[in-house]
Amino acid sequence: MSYKNLIIDYDDNFAIITINRPKKLNALNSETIKELHEAFKELDSEKETLVIVLTGSGEKAFVAGADISEFSDFSVDEGAQLAAKGHKTVFDFVENLSTPVIAAVNGFALGGGLELAMACHFRVASDNARMGLPEVSLGLIPGYGGTQRLPQLVGKGRALEMIMTAGMINAEKALDYGLVNHVVPQEELLDFCFEIGEKIANNSPVAIAHAIKVVNAGFKTNVNGYDSEIEAFGECFGTADFEEGTTAFLEKRKAEFPGE
Ligand code: COA
Repeated sequence: MSYKNLIIDYDDNFAIITINRPKKLNALNSETIKELHEAFKELDSEKETLVIVLTGSGEKAFVAGADISEFSDFSVDEGAQLAAKGHKTVFDFVENLSTPVIAAVNGFALGGGLELAMACHFRVASDNARMGLPEVSLGLIPGYGGTQRLPQLVGKGRALEMIMTAGMINAEKALDYGLVNHVVPQEELLDFCFEIGEKIANNSPVAIAHAIKVVNAGFKTNVNGYDSEIEAFGECFGTADFEEGTTAFLEKRKAEFPGE
């Protein structure tokens, strides 16, 4: 499938999605949101894709937010629909994807850009990255999950300070806050993500998919994360990956997971 605003590259078991609107600092217009949904759906269905890395084109921005020019004249209903559709098709979709997604934050990650990075399973930033949720400076609040995921990652007080000031934090502070897991020089960003990706790709894709689901379950209301864990733990015993993983251990060899 070809995309207007995305570039998809493959490297062994990795797929790299690059959001490619550099002149608009990779701002998320509705077409890009739609394409992101299609791309994640397609890559998640490919058995050979074990890890997805998401980044922005150029050296300046990951994503500078939702495309402000598209919603400046929206009504109350249109605003609510914009958020609901985004949650469903991209932000919740990515968070709940079976395939691990690493955000390689290569510059500005603002508004919807930071929200997209936070929907990924974890984040690595380049040393020039700057992150923030500036929506209140536009008379809005974050609408793609930022009010929920930022407090989960950095704590309520830090999240509210970032949201209320509409300010940006640099990569070092994001690391200190736990918003990103690592900070590396920009030219090393993708290779660093691949290094982590290789470690992930050695393990059972089925078990990883269960782990993502169960960790997410703990952040949902009306779902008991511990119960979800017990159920998924049991399910693992019925998988070919479990059989291969335990057999390989006992035979003192490296496991070759079938991903089933
Ligand atoms: N939506 C639409 N267009 C955007 C955008 C966004 N979120 N962010 C940047 N752009 C566009 C600019 O309008 C400009 O387009 P133009 O050249 O056609 O005028 C282009 O990207 C470059 O941005 P510019 O503002 O000139 O770059 P800068 O280096 O001076 O500033 C930022 C960089 C990120 C500080 C600034 O672009 C910015 O504040 N962007 C908006 C961030 C935001 O509020 N995001 C939340 C949206 S809900």
